[in-house]
Amino acid sequence: MSEAPIQAYDKEALVQRNPHADFPTIETTRPNYDPTTFWNPTKTPKPSWKPGDGASMNGWYGKPMVAIDPHQPGRTSNQNYKLMIFSTVPRPIALVSTISADGKRQNLAPYSYFNNVASDPPMYSISFAGKEANDSLTNLLETGELCISIVSDWFLEAANFTSVNTPPHLSEWPLAGLHPLKSSKVRPPHVAESAFSMECKLHSVTPLFSKTKVNNDGTPERANTLVLVEAVLFHAREDAIDRKRETVDIKVLRPVWRGGGITYGTCFGGWETPRPDSFRALRETQPIKDILQTIKSLE
Ligand SMILES: Cc1cc2nc3c(=O)[nH]c(=O)nc-3n(C[C@H](O)[C@H](O)[C@H](O)COP(=O)(O)O)c2cc1C
Repeated sequence: MSEAPIQAYDKEALVQRNPHADFPTIETTRPNYDPTTFWNPTKTPKPSWKPGDGASMNGWYGKPMVAIDPHQPGRTSNQNYKLMIFSTVPRPIALVSTISADGKRQNLAPYSYFNNVASDPPMYSISFAGKEANDSLTNLLETGELCISIVSDWFLEAANFTSVNTPPHLSEWPLAGLHPLKSSKVRPPHVAESAFSMECKLHSVTPLFSKTKVNNDGTPERANTLVLVEAVLFHAREDAIDRKRETVDIKVLRPVWRGGGITYGTCFGGWETPRPDSFRALRETQPIKDILQTIKSLE
C-alpha cells in the first residue's frame, strides 16, 4: 500500500501547549507517581458550615481581579483556548473510538470538551475543534456511531498518545498499544483497558462559528463542531459497579482529568456533602430565620 500523505499539520507548534522548553529534564525533578494512592475522602473544609456562612476559607478576600475581553484587539483565539482550558478544570476525558463507513479506517482519540448532558435519554456532548472535520468526526458523520471510554490512571500515557496526528489510514490503536473490545450495538470497538465505556449513536450536530476568522467568501469560519450522542449501551467493569447497576466505585475507576496546557490529574482527594434539606424544613431553622429577618428589615 502506498504511503498516504500526512494531512494533519503540526498543531502543537502552533498552539504551544507545552510551557517547558525541556520537559524530559523537568520531569526527572518530579517525584515518581504513586499507584498505591486511592480515593480517600476527608471531611469538607468546614463541616460546621451553616446557611449564611459563605466561603469557609477567606484567602479570596480583597484579591484584585482582572477583566479579559475575549475579543480585545490583538488577542487570539488560541489565547482564549488556553485561558479556558486552564480555568475550566477538571475536565473528564473521553477516549473516542470510531470506524469509517467502509470499515477501513479505525480511529481512537481523546476529547476533554466532553460531558454528560442528559440522562433520559443518556446523552453526552463532545466538541471537535477545527475548520475541517478531523478523523473521529469524519467517521462519526459517516456512520452515526462512536464509543466513549473513560480514561483511568493505568492507561493515561497511552490515551494521551492517541492524540498523535496520524494520517487517516493509520489507526492509533496499535500505536498506543491499546486493545479494542467488540461492541454490541455499534460497529466501533471500545477500549478494553477502560473500566467504563459507552456505545453511542449520533443525536445532533451543531457547527460553532468563529467571530474572528472568515472563509474566502466572507462567511464565518467553522471553529468547532458540537455533537450530542446518545448512549445505547454501557459497559462497566464488574468490580467497579454496584449490584443495582447504579454507582461506579471511584476507587476502582481511578479517573483522570485534564487541566490546562499539558496537565492531567487524578481524583484521589474529595469529600461527600449532602444537598440542602427542603427549604420548607430549612426555614424553620435558626440560621435561615435570622437571614430572612435581616432581609425583611432591609426592605
Ligand atoms: C487529553 C486530550 C483532550 C483533547 N480534547 C480535545 C477536544 O475536546 N476537542 C478536540 O477537537 N481535540 C481534542 N484533543 C485533540 C485531539 O485528540 C487530536 O486533535 C486528535 O489528533 C484528533 O484525532 P483524529 O484526527 O484522529 O480524530 C485532545 C487531546 C488530548 C490529549
